[in-house]
Amino acid sequence: MVTDPLRIGLIGAGAIGAWHARIVAERRDAVLAAVCDSDAGRASVLAARYGAKPFVDAADLFADVALDGVIIASPERVHGEHARLAAAAGVPMLIEKPVAPDPVGVEAIRAVTEGSGVAVMAGHVERFEIGSAGLKAAVEQGVCGGVVTIAARRQFVAADTPRFKGLSTTLRILGVHDFDLVAWVHPVPVIEVYAAAGRGRVFAETGLDDHVVTTLRFADGAVGLVESAWTLPRPYGVFTSPEGWSPAGNNRLDVFGSTGMVSNDMGLRGQQLVAFDETEGFRAAGIRHQPILHGKVTGALAEEVAAFIAMIADRTPPLVGLADALRAVRLTEAAEASLATGLPVRLD
Ligand SMILES: NC(=O)c1ccc[n+]([C@@H]2O[C@H](COP(=O)([O-])OP(=O)(O)OC[C@H]3O[C@@H](n4cnc5c(N)ncnc54)[C@H](O)[C@@H]3O)[C@@H](O)[C@H]2O)c1
Repeated sequence: MVTDPLRIGLIGAGAIGAWHARIVAERRDAVLAAVCDSDAGRASVLAARYGAKPFVDAADLFADVALDGVIIASPERVHGEHARLAAAAGVPMLIEKPVAPDPVGVEAIRAVTEGSGVAVMAGHVERFEIGSAGLKAAVEQGVCGGVVTIAARRQFVAADTPRFKGLSTTLRILGVHDFDLVAWVHPVPVIEVYAAAGRGRVFAETGLDDHVVTTLRFADGAVGLVESAWTLPRPYGVFTSPEGWSPAGNNRLDVFGSTGMVSNDMGLRGQQLVAFDETEGFRAAGIRHQPILHGKVTGALAEEVAAFIAMIADRTPPLVGLADALRAVRLTEAAEASLATGLPVRLD
């Protein structure tokens, strides 16, 4: 049976929005119908690329175009406003992480969307990484025995941090990914969060913490460690060739338990795709999240969009929902409160 492609809208035509637009446009079962960005130039350029209608105001988009779904990839401080408009229009939505800057914001989105019965998926892309999902499955099968320690590191070059100045924080940009991941892999309540930040050049230039170390204490006695950092040296990730390569990070997720361990090592020495030449020296490609295969985006972000399309088409619950988003944002807020006071934060 052939059905009409789903009409998908996009709000926020920036760094991640452009990837979402491309992924939707490359699907056979969806079309990118509309693009909204408060920057008119960005909206029109991205819309023109995929034959979509451009808007600068999200209310106008919903008033003008009938959509089957919308991807909200605007900055988190305006996700609530965009979710409210989508809910009022009855349009299912995928909201980029963090779903809101704080738990109150996530609760507000939950209130408007539950009230109108509109489905919401949270954009936690790590849930769609094969390594993360494989590690979760192994832990569930008891490979580690009882979990004792779970540790996540996410470290990048501080190449484009200036654009977040005054708008976001290291924990909202990087940490929230791992707070979701750690809580997903070990779904036991967290009772205490303590965070400390190393501050250097990145903090001086942008106000973002260079390197945050957060410890988590779970109700069952296990501990977690989340490192969120911009402390890789610039040459590691700043290069101009080969075209299409994006810089790798120094990331890992390890679980150590009473009878075993599981490790997903995406670290400096284990990079799969590297290049070395006399002009630019060494560089490693980030082939997670949105690698290109034979001209099309594949990988975790494309899988996330596929799950969103399936949620709409099959009317099934989201694979990652607002309860997950709330848990991750609560941990982020607790870590930020700990950073501000220098003290551990107890959670109920
Ligand atoms: N899943 C991931 O790995 C990932 C990666 C990057 C960003 N993100 C998330 O996606 C969101 C966007 O991040 P980004 O890096 O693409 O930011 P960005 O600044 O590159 O893009 C945001 C865009 O939204 C537009 N915008 C701002 N206010 C608007 C409004 N009121 N209405 C319409 N458009 C508006 C801006 O003009 C900009 O073009 C953030 O919440 C971020 O945390 C997720």
